[in-house]
Order: sequence, then C-alpha cells, then structure tokens
Amino acid sequence: MAQFRTFVERHLHIFLSMKNQSKLGRLHAIVSLALSQQNGRVGPVTSSRIAHLRFVENLPGTPYTIYHEDAFAWLRDRELNSVHAVVTDPPYGLVEYSERQLEKMKNGNGGIWRLPPDFDGCKRSPLPRFTVLTDGELEALRKFFERLAMALMPVLVPGGHVFIASNPLVSYLVYEPFIHAGFEKRGEIIRIVKTLRGGDRPKNAHKEFSDVSVMPRSCWEPWGLFRRPCEGRVQDNLRRWKTGGLRRISEAEPFRDVIISSPARGREREIASHPSLKPQHFLRQIVRASLPLGEGIIVDPFMGSGSTIAAAIACGLESIGLESNATFFAMAERAIPKLAAFDSN
Ligand SMILES: C[S@@+](CC[C@H](N)C(=O)[O-])C[C@H]1O[C@@H](n2cnc3c(N)ncnc32)[C@H](O)[C@@H]1O
Repeated sequence: MAQFRTFVERHLHIFLSMKNQSKLGRLHAIVSLALSQQNGRVGPVTSSRIAHLRFVENLPGTPYTIYHEDAFAWLRDRELNSVHAVVTDPPYGLVEYSERQLEKMKNGNGGIWRLPPDFDGCKRSPLPRFTVLTDGELEALRKFFERLAMALMPVLVPGGHVFIASNPLVSYLVYEPFIHAGFEKRGEIIRIVKTLRGGDRPKNAHKEFSDVSVMPRSCWEPWGLFRRPCEGRVQDNLRRWKTGGLRRISEAEPFRDVIISSPARGREREIASHPSLKPQHFLRQIVRASLPLGEGIIVDPFMGSGSTIAAAIACGLESIGLESNATFFAMAERAIPKLAAFDSN
C-alpha cells in the first residue's frame, strides 16, 4: 500500500499534465508506466552505483558526474524534479549496441551496421542500417521510447526540455511516445549533415538502373525537441524552476532550429572512437540552449563517449552522464576532459 501511495504521489502530476488526452488514454499511460517500472525492477541491473564526480582541471567551477549504470535504473531512483534538461543520442532499437551486433561490426561483417566503402583515402565510420529492422524490432523501439519518456517525465522539472537525436526513418517511433507521455512537442532541430546513408542504386542492378536511387541521400538529422509542461506562464516557470524557454544565442539572436554541422572527424574522433560520436561544434550549441538561464543540471542517459558531458563542461554547465557499456564508459572517462578542451571552431 505504501509502495502504491509513493507511486501515485510520484506520477500524479503526469496524469494531470496530459490535458490533451482522454481519461482512458491517461489511465493507459499511467498503467504502462507502472508496468514498465515493475519490469525494470525485476530485469538485470547493471548498476555499479558509483558516482564519479569530476572536475576538468582547467574548468574547476563545472562539476560533472558520470555513472557506469543502466539509464532506467538510475532514472527510477532519481529524485523528482531534479533534472533541468536532457540532451541525448539514444540507442536505436536496442539492436545496434547488442554484444552480437558490436562484434559483427568489429569483425567487418556488417550486421545492422552498414560499412561504408573507403574512398578518397578516407575511411568512413559504420552507420546503423535502420531499413533492416523487422516489425517486431520497430515495435520494441516504440516501447523503448515509451519507457524512456515515462521515466524522464517525473525527474525533469516543469518546463524542462528534452533534445533527443533521431533519424528520418524512425523518428515517428520516438515522437509519438513522448507526446503520449505528456510532453509537449516544441519543434525539431535539424542538423544539416552529409551522411553516406541512402542515395544508392538498386542492389545488383546498378548498371540496369543507373539513373535510379532507392532512397534519397540523407543530408539531415532530426533532433526531437520536447518540454515538460510549465507550471503557469513561462515567466513564472523561469522564476521558480529556471526552465521553460531556450537560451538565446545573443540578445539579438534567438536559438534557431537549423544547425549546419559536419560529422565528428580527425582529432575529435581520435579522442573518442565511439561509432556514434556527435561533434562538439553541434552539441555545444544545443547544450547551451537547453538551460535558458544557464542554471541547472543537464542529463545524458546514453552518454556513449561522453560528448554531451564534455559540451556541457565547455559551456560551464553542470551535467550527469550514464553509460551501461563498460568499454564505452571507460572511453568516456578518458575522453571527457579532452573533448571539453577541444577547440571546435
Ligand atoms: C548512440 S550512442 C551515444 C553516443 C554519443 N552520442 C557519443 O557522442 O559518444 C548510445 C549509447 O547508449 C548506451 N546505452 C544503451 N542502452 C543503455 C542503457 N539502458 N543505459 C545506459 N546506456 C545505454 C550504448 O552503449 C551507447 O554507447
């Protein structure tokens, strides 16, 4: 009974904030949340629950904490209303970061990782191939984001923003569960980036259909932008919680939703060889925008090599990063101070 009371106290505000949905829809969301949390509790917990509170030597005023831990386990135990923004590049489908798929990529067998051809003397990084996901995997993906949205809602303060990386093929599986969980969609950040995804001629019939591409060559990456509803007006929320809006670039310039950004290359990639490394040039812009008054804590539940944490340090903002894979966690430990000091201009 006590457990039930705690659960209701913890999640009542979610129920109340889902104004746009029917009572049945809201009830469904709350019951799914209870079940997903229950599932999380009985599932394997990789938590070592050791907080690595750090400071980068030349930026002593900006603490960051990283945990080698499962994001859902950490979020479940996190205090209510204690995170001011989330900036994250999540795993897609829980498939590409499975031991089996990582092993296939390492051995050059591909699997879900598309291994782009080498040309102009430059070796490209592997990219996940989302067109090979089965219906079951797509459904698992939707459920994963449903669980994530539900887990983030209570720990974020009212007006807290979530910036979440996606891609044009599967973004709908991310966005709908966030809206269903009670988040407001506040737009999308379009990262203009030339990838090697799409644009190919039909397989094994290149010559016969030399004028045809099966899909467009992808030149952009969508980042969903969501907000936990504010308490009252934005100005009230800013005063009470320090959130609700986005930090402007300058007095004359608002934050914009299109950012031109090349993939992380060269020295940055030498520092952190994570297959999904995001560049500092891009991350620093969105991390800075995520805290409108420059106050509060940013969380990256899927930090990989820690690039979001490094961007936060570079912007003088406090952050927390979580990573469940031991190799990537060790990579983050080494890479964060170097990426934070990296000159991204
Ligand atoms: C797309 S990558 C992020 C890479 C990051 N953008 C970077 O620049 O290094 C997602 C990361 O989430 C980690 N991950 C997957 N499931 C997780 C979970 N349940 N909890 C914490 N980390 C998880 C994966 O090991 C992977 O490193």
